[in-house]
Amino acid sequence: MSPVIQLLAAGRTFRQGPDEYAALRPATVTIDRGQYVAVTGASGSGKSTLLNLITGVDRASQGTVRVNGTALETLGEGALARFRGASIGIVFQFFELIPTLTALDNVVLAMDLVGTVPPRARR
Ligand SMILES: Nc1ncnc2c1ncn2[C@@H]1O[C@H](COP(=O)(O)OP(=O)(O)OP(=O)(O)O)[C@@H](O)[C@H]1O
Ligand SMILES: [Mg+2]
Repeated sequence: MSPVIQLLAAGRTFRQGPDEYAALRPATVTIDRGQYVAVTGASGSGKSTLLNLITGVDRASQGTVRVNGTALETLGEGALARFRGASIGIVFQFFELIPTLTALDNVVLAMDLVGTVPPRARR
């Protein structure tokens, strides 16, 4: 089976004044295509931080995050945005919808941004 997600000593640190602390200590993880994975742990243990690295929402401070064969740290902001748009689906805990748009327009907006569905087929 080919790994679809691979972290090699990937970690995320944040700066707090003069100090740095690790939101995610360097982690090495392999997830194969078709595998279902649940990430569990205490609040503040780094689950969202890990998901943010895998989805390209955030960047690792060290190590490598490889998704579908692409090392995300090699992508610039534009390429990373295109990767998120074309390859990643996220169901957020608090939905993250744009409140001034209808539910339908929220969905169509994402299609507009990525251009994966022909305009006339979007609605
Ligand atoms: N943008 C940020 N800036 C500074 N510190 C952060 C940031 N994001 C997360 N942290 C810190 O990193 C650590 C891990 O946070 P994270 O949100 O990944 O935990 P979690 O496991 O998802 O928690 P929960 O179960 O509450 O969702 C926490 O100490 C958190 O305060
Ligand atoms: Mg979380």
